[in-house]
Amino acid sequence: MSDTDDSDATGVVSLVGSGPGDPELLTVKARRLLQEADVVLHDKLPGPEIIESIPAQRREDVGKRAGGDRTSQSYTNERLVELAREGKQVVRLKGGDPFVFGRGGEEAEVLAEAGIPFEVVPGVTSPIAAPGVAGIPVTHRDHVSSVSFVTGHEDPTKAESSVDWPALADTGGTIVVLMGVGKLPEYTAELRSAGLAPETPVALVERGTWPAMRVVTGTLDTIVDARDAAGIEPPAITVIGEVAAYREELVAFLRGRGDADATAETTHTDSTERGDDA
Ligand SMILES: C[S@@+](CC[C@H](N)C(=O)[O-])C[C@H]1O[C@@H](n2cnc3c(N)ncnc32)[C@H](O)[C@@H]1O
Repeated sequence: MSDTDDSDATGVVSLVGSGPGDPELLTVKARRLLQEADVVLHDKLPGPEIIESIPAQRREDVGKRAGGDRTSQSYTNERLVELAREGKQVVRLKGGDPFVFGRGGEEAEVLAEAGIPFEVVPGVTSPIAAPGVAGIPVTHRDHVSSVSFVTGHEDPTKAESSVDWPALADTGGTIVVLMGVGKLPEYTAELRSAGLAPETPVALVERGTWPAMRVVTGTLDTIVDARDAAGIEPPAITVIGEVAAYREELVAFLRGRGDADATAETTHTDSTERGDDA
């Protein structure tokens, strides 16, 4: 909670991370706030199990609308302020962690400017959790001592990319790409041109921790074909680097792995479930 004086009727906004989708990965605090909230503003990323656990009369979807249009960020910002000024206890629920590619920073700024008391409730973030449940540690003491988290889909209104792929290649560490399904051909090519070996291991983890999780493995050279063969769709995480090969060592003993992926070595694909962008 902020130190702001909230002695009048102003409500409180909690910017809450839901984790990657498995309801058991909600934090205890997130679960309590969801139970206590007057209103929960959410998009699709928390996943159906978590969203449907909130009574329909207490939730508002501010994600994609029917027809594919997104609710504007300015609408969400205004709605948060409006509800808080009505004295409501509001949860803004976001997939993963609210401050990791989640626009939580923008919403926090708006709330602070409007004088609305708010708190940040961190969540289990997908760029670590999705590879983890797929048997991929993003660092490994013997092999890789740094990891970079990067977006594969920048704001299209930006004049220039702020992702320096050659610099990322130079780190020698693991590269984890969020929102990176569509632009996979572009950034794998950039990393190749920057000198990463074509046989560098790559894994795609679709809907990590969800019942329909799928994992596809390959190399910088083969992963685009593997993505297309499996029909991988967002939300998915791309892991690039030596650690992506660890899955093959662990998968035979890995519980809840998304399954059918004992075939990944030969076909680079797992099971078949598909879904929406998030
Ligand atoms: C707007 S970002 C939000 C990230 C989120 N705040 C977090 O900390 O995980 C959306 C992207 O997160 C990734 N993502 C979120 N949940 C995921 C999951 N369960 N499995 C795989 N990727 C996920 C995907 O790359 C997706 O396109």
